[in-house]
Amino acid sequence: MKRLLVFIFAATLTHLHAQELNIVPQPAEINWPQTKGNNTITSNTPIVLAGSGLENSANFLNDYLQRFYGFKLKIIKGTNFKNAIVLNYERIEHEIPGAYIVNSYNGGIYIAGDNAEGVFYGVQTLLQLLPPADTKSPAAKIVLPWVNISDYPRFAYRGLHLDVGRHFMPVDFIKKYIDYIAQHKMNYFHWHLTEDQGWRIEIKKYPRLTQVGAYRYGTITGKKPGTGNTNTKHGGFYTQAQVKEIVAYAAKRYVTIIPEIELPGHSSAAIAAYPELSCFPKEPTVIPGGNGSIASKKAGGKLVQETWGVFEDVFCPTEYTFQFLQDVLDEVMTLFPSKYIHIGGDECPKEAWKRSAFCQQLIKEKGLKDEHELQSYFIQRIEKHINKKGRTIIGWDEILEGGLAPNALVMSWRGESGGIEAAKQNHQVIMTPGSHVYFDYAQSENEDSITISGYTPIEKVYAYEAIPAELPADKHHFVMGAQANVWTEYMTNPRKVEYMIFPRLAALSEVLWTPKEKRSWEAFEKKLPQLYKKYENNKINYSTAFYDIHSTTLKDTINNGLLWKLFTNATESKITYSTTKDTAISEYRSPLAIKNTQTIKAVVSVNGVVKQILLQSFTFNKATAQKITLANTPSKNYPGDGAFTLVNGIWNERGLQKRHEFLGFSGANLDATIEMSSLQTIKEVNVGILEAVNSWIYRPAAIEVYISADGSNYTLAGTANQFTMATPLRKVGVSFQPQQAKFIRVVVKNYGTIPAGNPGAGSPAWLFADEIEIN
Ligand code: ACM
Repeated sequence: MKRLLVFIFAATLTHLHAQELNIVPQPAEINWPQTKGNNTITSNTPIVLAGSGLENSANFLNDYLQRFYGFKLKIIKGTNFKNAIVLNYERIEHEIPGAYIVNSYNGGIYIAGDNAEGVFYGVQTLLQLLPPADTKSPAAKIVLPWVNISDYPRFAYRGLHLDVGRHFMPVDFIKKYIDYIAQHKMNYFHWHLTEDQGWRIEIKKYPRLTQVGAYRYGTITGKKPGTGNTNTKHGGFYTQAQVKEIVAYAAKRYVTIIPEIELPGHSSAAIAAYPELSCFPKEPTVIPGGNGSIASKKAGGKLVQETWGVFEDVFCPTEYTFQFLQDVLDEVMTLFPSKYIHIGGDECPKEAWKRSAFCQQLIKEKGLKDEHELQSYFIQRIEKHINKKGRTIIGWDEILEGGLAPNALVMSWRGESGGIEAAKQNHQVIMTPGSHVYFDYAQSENEDSITISGYTPIEKVYAYEAIPAELPADKHHFVMGAQANVWTEYMTNPRKVEYMIFPRLAALSEVLWTPKEKRSWEAFEKKLPQLYKKYENNKINYSTAFYDIHSTTLKDTINNGLLWKLFTNATESKITYSTTKDTAISEYRSPLAIKNTQTIKAVVSVNGVVKQILLQSFTFNKATAQKITLANTPSKNYPGDGAFTLVNGIWNERGLQKRHEFLGFSGANLDATIEMSSLQTIKEVNVGILEAVNSWIYRPAAIEVYISADGSNYTLAGTANQFTMATPLRKVGVSFQPQQAKFIRVVVKNYGTIPAGNPGAGSPAWLFADEIEIN
């Protein structure tokens, strides 16, 4: 390795300058020389390769310059490197590949990496030092400041996932996606290639996988269970030639592609192609929810799924299936040089295996305890085959159930507990918890396109810490890093995928790369407007959720009403509002007094440009803004905005996306007492309830209403225990003879245990309430 003298600047300015550079992820060290100065890159500036094997990074730099500035540089080898961009190696010896330095100084630009990845990341940083390009009238020269940067990655695994099963994404977009990964100094692309709704990779030995399994007759419209069906064939697959091309494209960007072949669940598309893979080859596929396409009804038999979720028809653990999977994996391992092969393992219902005489016999023969151990047997057989080829399996955290395969790496997605458990068993783990890094969740509380559920704003992604707090220090080294997952049920095209990942990907990159002590939300937030400009220059579709108007409601003790408090994260923005009663527009300065039923329109703008609009309705009844106390505290994950949430006049309209509008109770009752300001005649009490069975959230078992004039002697006013839930969000309640009361106790009984055959069966049900109404 050739070593060069590096210019060291003894004196530096303060760290404050770091943000001005807008480098994402934030580098470990940025030092400014005492004397300010600039370097200029023109078409005469050479790129000098002072180390061997760095042509890749030089070409990458040139391609970028050509694309955005309209010129390329000469690439030369040698030692005369005044006023050049020099690429070289330096021994930094960071334990994770990718460390580098970038010195822009009065002799030119010097980029040196610990290894080839490091040089590549140095080039990525250089590109971010360049002023924004004007592609319409490219500048003949590019000016950048003198500065010293030294940088290294925090985690070895910095991943982004993409599900191409639910919606097929074209090759060009896959390449773009890999570019996005590399630009953020991330290094793994987890390519989820097989699903119930489509098999996406050509397997020569099993041509029906793509002839049949890559296409579905239609797709449900709207949010599951859907409002109908597109009745339009959807599908596509990657040929082996395309896969090779994509793998090579990624390798040039130091991105490793981990293919995922899902097993034993999420296998409807493979079963549609080869029904013998099912325990019940003759049983036709059911498309739950009643919104299957016309063509699928006509075709019958095994079908590629047209709706979302988890399906019972899974791979049967026969020798035929194992041979099939080994053949498939052999072709996959030939195409992908990755050390890691993802085999899925999540969400495999055991119903078919329970019904299957073959499976029950196999459980006996192998001395297994139950179907969970059968799944473990399944995974371990696959692991043995993959290990024989010198590769390692990765599985979702369900592979812990029934015993972890001996060499497996675990991806923790159902929170952090799977990752903690696997690390405690001395297995390497990758953290991908749904709570923080599922990029299919809405980033805006006011998102109006369909998203799967949940709400993960960029601040929450930024705050994510991949080493779980509960993990003992001697196990920290098992956490290789983290990954965001992008499931595409509600992303039908690349534009929507971009909208869901940007700008959260930028936040994730700092979580994964930047030293923990250098990570700062305040600094990151200041970089966002510049990032948005870059996205616009690159025609990237991104979310402006950062400008969301957030609100809380407080009790207005003076007016016996509500105070509505508004705020936004965007420091340079302005909020204005108007009401249905008075359409005049006023600037928001302090919480607004809300004394009766009305709708308020709040608008956030930056330099006169509208960024977000929020319409909020307030509905007043006898409970609104009254004193409320709770006998049981809600779950710490669903505290809403406290007990007052239930009397704040706001009925939830967007489900869990506005999760602070709900109080959530796991297995427990909601037991609230409302004290009205005076004795009043009442005849009805209603509660706003959310039901989302797939998220384990159920309607109440019963509601009991007790009333009192003095707050100590209560009588039962009425009960109800039958509720119709035509829509997931609904008022349910109790009516009774008009009576006088000042205190009303409302006991909303939890559903209890989740019934068999439903997600979470056997676990305590959740109860979610957003409002109490007294009439
Ligand atoms: C997953 O989200 N089912 C891994």
